[in-house]
Amino acid sequence: MTDSLGKMRRTHNCEELRETDVGKEVVLMGWVQKRRDHGGVVFIDLRDRKGITQIVFNPSVSEKAHDKAQTIRGEYVLGVRGKVSKRPDDMLNPKMATGSVEIMVDELKIFSKAETPVFQIEDRVEASETIRLKYRHLDLRRPGLMKNIIARHTASMAVRDYLNDNGFLDIETPFLTKSTPEGARDYLVPSRVNHGKFYALPQSPQLFKQLLMISGFDRYYQIVKCFRDEDLRADRQPEFTQIDMELSFVGEDDIMEIAEGLIKEVFKKVRDIDIKSPFNRITYDEAITRFGLDKPDMRFGLELCDISDIVKDAGFKVFSSVVKKGGIVKAINAKGCTNFTRKQIDDLTEFVSVYRAKGLAWIKVKEDSWQSPIAKFFTDEEKQKLKERIDMEPGDLVFFVADTPKITNEALGQLRNELGKQLGLIDDNTYEFVWVTRFPMFEYDETEKRFQALHHPFTAPVEEDMDEKLENDPLSVKSRAYDMVLNGMEIGGGSIRIHTRDLQERVLKLLGITKEDAEEKFGFLLNALDSGAPPHGGIAFGLDRLVMLLCREDSIRNVIAFPKTQKATCLLTDAPSIPSSDQLQELSIRVSRIEE
Ligand code: AMO
Ligand code: AMP
Repeated sequence: MTDSLGKMRRTHNCEELRETDVGKEVVLMGWVQKRRDHGGVVFIDLRDRKGITQIVFNPSVSEKAHDKAQTIRGEYVLGVRGKVSKRPDDMLNPKMATGSVEIMVDELKIFSKAETPVFQIEDRVEASETIRLKYRHLDLRRPGLMKNIIARHTASMAVRDYLNDNGFLDIETPFLTKSTPEGARDYLVPSRVNHGKFYALPQSPQLFKQLLMISGFDRYYQIVKCFRDEDLRADRQPEFTQIDMELSFVGEDDIMEIAEGLIKEVFKKVRDIDIKSPFNRITYDEAITRFGLDKPDMRFGLELCDISDIVKDAGFKVFSSVVKKGGIVKAINAKGCTNFTRKQIDDLTEFVSVYRAKGLAWIKVKEDSWQSPIAKFFTDEEKQKLKERIDMEPGDLVFFVADTPKITNEALGQLRNELGKQLGLIDDNTYEFVWVTRFPMFEYDETEKRFQALHHPFTAPVEEDMDEKLENDPLSVKSRAYDMVLNGMEIGGGSIRIHTRDLQERVLKLLGITKEDAEEKFGFLLNALDSGAPPHGGIAFGLDRLVMLLCREDSIRNVIAFPKTQKATCLLTDAPSIPSSDQLQELSIRVSRIEE
C-alpha cells in the first residue's frame, strides 16, 4: 500500500477488482476517463492499460479527498487509496468487467494535471488522421489502438517462442550497411568520417542472412526493421517490420511447413483461431490465369475467363486487333447483376482505367437477347461459344477487357476484388491462405530496357530451367520463389537461394550487372559463395500486414505505434527536418534545392 518512502504503492490494475474483493483496501493509479458530480458525490472512471474502475469521492468517507476531487478534469493522472465496495443494485454495470464494484476513496494523490485533450479518448470519436498522428501519444490511449499494439506484442512473442522451439537463432544484422536490393530506392545515411560516402539502410537483411547460413548458423531469424523508399499505400510504410528467417539444407516444403506452423501459432495465440494446414498452393501462372493477380483473394469465385481465341476474328475490332497484336481478351461474369445501372457500369469503367484498361465492354444477358454496345459485332457462332465459355445465363452481367496480358489481368483482377466487395461475396470472418509458387525469374522493364529480378537477384531458378533456358529465353524461366497470400494480401515472400558463385554470376549478368559492378556491389557475397555455401532458403513476413489482418484493420498505420504518413513524414516529431548548417558542413554536404 505504501513503499519504503511512505508513498502510495499500486496494488491492482483498473481491470482487476471483482465482487470477491469487496472490503479490501487497495491502491489504483491511472487516468481520468470521465468525471461526474452527483449531489455532492464525485464519481470518476479511472483508466489504465487494462481497463476501467469506478472510484467514488464521498465527503462522508474523506472530506479532504472529496474537496480535492473538485479540481479533477479529464486525463488527469491520479493515485487513489480506498476500500472496494459493492455498487448499489441500481448502479451495477454488467458491460464493465469491474462493473459490480467501486472504490470509496480515502486518499487522493494528483500526479499530474492535463490540458483538455484535442480529441476525446474514446474509440468512436472521429478525429482526422492528421490530428491523430500529430497527437499520437493521445491517440494511443484509445482502447482500440492500444489493443492493436498489444496484439502486435502477442504476435511477436508467439513468433519468438515458436522459432526458438524450432531451433532458430535470433541474430542481429547491421542497419548502417550497403544497398540490399529488394526493388525499392535506398534510404542513404552520410558518413561523417568518410566524406562523400553513404551507408544505405537495409531494404531487408537478405545478404546478411545468407552469409549467416554460409557461416554455419543453420537457422536464423530476426524481427527486424526494413527501410524502403517507395510510393506508400495503406499496406506500405517506409520503415516496416519483417519476421525474417533463413534455413540451411532445405527445400520449398521445409520452409513452407515451418512458415505455416508459425502462422498457425500466431493466429492461435493472438486470436484463438485454428488455421487448417497445409495451405493450398497454386503456381504464379495459374493465379494469373484464374484471378488476374499474383495475390489472389481465395475467399470467393468470380474467376476470369480467357476468350481471346473466340474473338480473334470478331467484327469488334477492339477485341480482334488486340489479339492480333499479341494481347488477350478476358471476361468476368458478374452473376445476377443485369440490374446494374449505367452509372454503376461507368464507375467500374473508371475503376479499371486506374489500372490502365482503355475500356470496359459489357453484356447484360436478358431472357432472349443480349443488351450491350458490342453484341451486334458477334456472329451467332461466336455468341454461342461465348455463352458456353463464360457460362452466360439470363440475369448475368459480363465485363470484358482487351489489352496486353499484363494490363488485362491486372485490371480484371482488381475488378474481381471490387465486385467481390460490392456484391458481398467476401466473408470477412474467414482466413484463406494460399501459397503462390514458381514465379517468373525475371520481368522486362520497358523504361529501363533491361531484365529485373521479380523477387530478388539471389533467388534460384528451378532446376530444369537452369541450363539452356536461362540465357536463351530468360522470360520463360521460373524461379524457386514463393509468396504466402492471405485474403488477397501478400503477407510473406521468400525463395530458395542461389548457392554457387557461377550461377549467381550468370544471373547478375542477365540483370545487366557487369562483372566489375557485381564485384563492387556484391563482391562480399560472391566471395562467400566460394567458401563453401550450404543450399539454403528462407522467407520474410510483413509483421505489420499480418497484425493488420489479425486486428481486422485496413491500414498498417493502425498497428504501428508511430507510423509515417503517405508522404513519409512523422507528424508527431516533424521528421524529416532540416539539419543545421554545422551538421551539413561536418558531412561536407550542400543542399542545392529545398522543396517546399
Ligand atoms: P519481400 O520484399 O517480399 O521479401 O518482403 C517480405 C514481406 O515484407 C512485407 N513488406 C512490407 N510491409 C510494409 N511496408 C512495406 N513497404 C513492405 N514491403 C514489403 C510484405 C512482404 O511479403 N528478403 C526478402 C525475403 C526473402 O527472400 O527471404 C524480402 O524482403 O508482407
Ligand atoms: P467504343 O468502340 O470505343 O465506343 O467502345 C465500345 C465499348 O467497348 C465500350 O463499352 C468501351 O468501354 C469498350 N472498350 C473499348 N476499349 C476496350 C478495351 N480495350 N477492352 C475492353 N473494352 C473496351
